[in-house]
Amino acid sequence: MVETIEWTPAGVVMIDQTRLPLHQEFVTCRNYEEVATAIRDMIIRGAPAIGVAAAMGVAIGVQQASETELDAQVETICDTLARTRPTAVNLFWAIDRMQRLYTSLRGAPLADIRARLIEEACLIREEDIEINRAIGRHGAPLVPDHKTVLTHCNAGALATAGYGTALGVIRAARESGKQIDVFADETRPFLQGARLTVWELQQDGIPTTLITDNMAGHFMKAGRIGCVVVGADRIAANGDVANKIGTYSVAVLARENGVPFYVAAPISTLDLTLTSGDQIPIEQRPASEVTHMYGNLVAPEGTEVQNPAFDVTPSRYVTAIITENGVARAPYEQSLKQVKSA
Ligand code: MRU
Repeated sequence: MVETIEWTPAGVVMIDQTRLPLHQEFVTCRNYEEVATAIRDMIIRGAPAIGVAAAMGVAIGVQQASETELDAQVETICDTLARTRPTAVNLFWAIDRMQRLYTSLRGAPLADIRARLIEEACLIREEDIEINRAIGRHGAPLVPDHKTVLTHCNAGALATAGYGTALGVIRAARESGKQIDVFADETRPFLQGARLTVWELQQDGIPTTLITDNMAGHFMKAGRIGCVVVGADRIAANGDVANKIGTYSVAVLARENGVPFYVAAPISTLDLTLTSGDQIPIEQRPASEVTHMYGNLVAPEGTEVQNPAFDVTPSRYVTAIITENGVARAPYEQSLKQVKSA
């Protein structure tokens, strides 16, 4: 499996997810502005992965900052990284963790501050892989054997530092000996399912079938789907889940057809400061993502477009939320607090 993101002496190296699966190219970000651009342009994407990128962005920014007015420079670095994508809370969680570490180091020699920030960013990356393995361990028993798992978007190794959240559950279920295969929604308009999920599962030899987003209901009704597992970008205190646009439709279809709908996410995706999903900011992406495919116009010139990148699934459709600390079920107000403090 290729590395999604790495700290190297040359800079922050990421696989370019806008070029997959046809091209395996790597981008080296040599300063924090380049990291911010990579997040905004979705060279790196997926909630935990952009958290790691932001942490490395803070670290690389401080390597290049000067001693005078360091606080103000750190503020600018963090603000720039925070203004890239609004929905996934992992971005803000990671920036906040780096900022708090910086504050605790005030007064130390600049060389020490720099070294500690690199160390912390790399630790966030390492921890993420461990967290995903724990999510997998908790989630694997929920996946029915000899069945097909439907997933939406890409919540895999590419969306994290490695192993994945939703795809981590699928990987762990396979590692535990379950004979499962995967249906991947293509995930219009950015095609994370077609381009990224199918590609990464094929690398692992996990049998995967690509379907278009509007086919999910058809296959559920035909009894072909054993359960749905998706990732999340932000989860409110009441269990409402923001995830890739189209997730809500999948959840409603799952309920209608009696298919369990699971969300796999790290604790860093919980935003218990928000009482409900209505308060989650939804990113609006450029119209060209909808009007164009691979650079080709597929709608009449000048067409009015809406392109929200995420939707919110009300918690009543969520069978369970799988975290590294265990599985939360309704009522989520209590269970999410419990898993968070476990
Ligand atoms: O716009 P993206 O590709 O960053 O959206 C990604 C998703 O919605 C994922 O499902 C989510 O971030 C979870 S990734 C483990």
